[in-house]
Amino acid sequence: MAAKRGSAVQKDEVGPSSVLAYLDPHYWDERFSSEDHYEWLKDYSHFSHLIREYVKPNASVLELGCGNSQLCEELHNDGITEITCIDLSAVAVEKMQKRLRAKGYKDVKVLEADMLELPFDKECFDVVIEKGTMDVLFVDSGDPWNPRPANVTKVSAMLQGVHRVLKPSGIFISISFGQPHFRRPLFEAPEFTWSIQWETFGDGFHYYFYILKKGKRSTDCKGLDQRINLPSICLLHEELESEDFIFRSTVDELDD
Ligand SMILES: C[S@@+](CC[C@H](N)C(=O)[O-])C[C@H]1O[C@@H](n2cnc3c(N)ncnc32)[C@H](O)[C@@H]1O
Repeated sequence: MAAKRGSAVQKDEVGPSSVLAYLDPHYWDERFSSEDHYEWLKDYSHFSHLIREYVKPNASVLELGCGNSQLCEELHNDGITEITCIDLSAVAVEKMQKRLRAKGYKDVKVLEADMLELPFDKECFDVVIEKGTMDVLFVDSGDPWNPRPANVTKVSAMLQGVHRVLKPSGIFISISFGQPHFRRPLFEAPEFTWSIQWETFGDGFHYYFYILKKGKRSTDCKGLDQRINLPSICLLHEELESEDFIFRSTVDELDD
């Protein structure tokens, strides 16, 4: 279950009045100035088995939109120590730098950067990972079956950047609310050489752990054949109350 927000936030405050706030950098700066930790989707314990399966300890990892999540610490604790985190929010970056320094994670780099314009050379990371960050680009996308061209352009820019900075056999891990029938058309754009597969985790409403392996695209890759399992609508009371629920139901709409 996602960790609760900072103590200054009341239990019934589950998020901004409009999900469009998630597109506003000022919203994140303001939020991070008073919030120390919030874990979107699920915390590491729910998908650590998948990280261990797909990420080697000596991998160089770029995390997109780290916010105030503990993902980079958990990766580090699991022996994956070459980590660069980015976030668009200067406040998140400064607080994350302080927190990591204070806790002794001195080798983790944290930079202010836009995931739509990644400031890195091509082919410099083994793994790019994001959790709930790409989902932000969908909050105003309209019909999830037919997202607005402006949203598709942004998501494509992000994916092109990720593809560019990955080493020739690097992998992109996307941990998301977004169901395969909505994400596959974007991941499978012809310019990308990656294969696509996914795993699910979580109780009730499932979360998706996408694994895109650069240079491995082929007509018989697992992703193209994998059956699309729609998540069951069996939400825990706690999930219904959470901010994630508001975000998720807007991002992808619940299936009928
Ligand atoms: C939904 S939160 C997810 C935070 C974190 N990944 C987690 O799992 O808890 C989205 C994060 O993405 C950041 N963000 C939004 N747009 C971004 C962009 N264009 N480039 C980099 N970070 C961005 C926000 O500042 C925020 O920290």
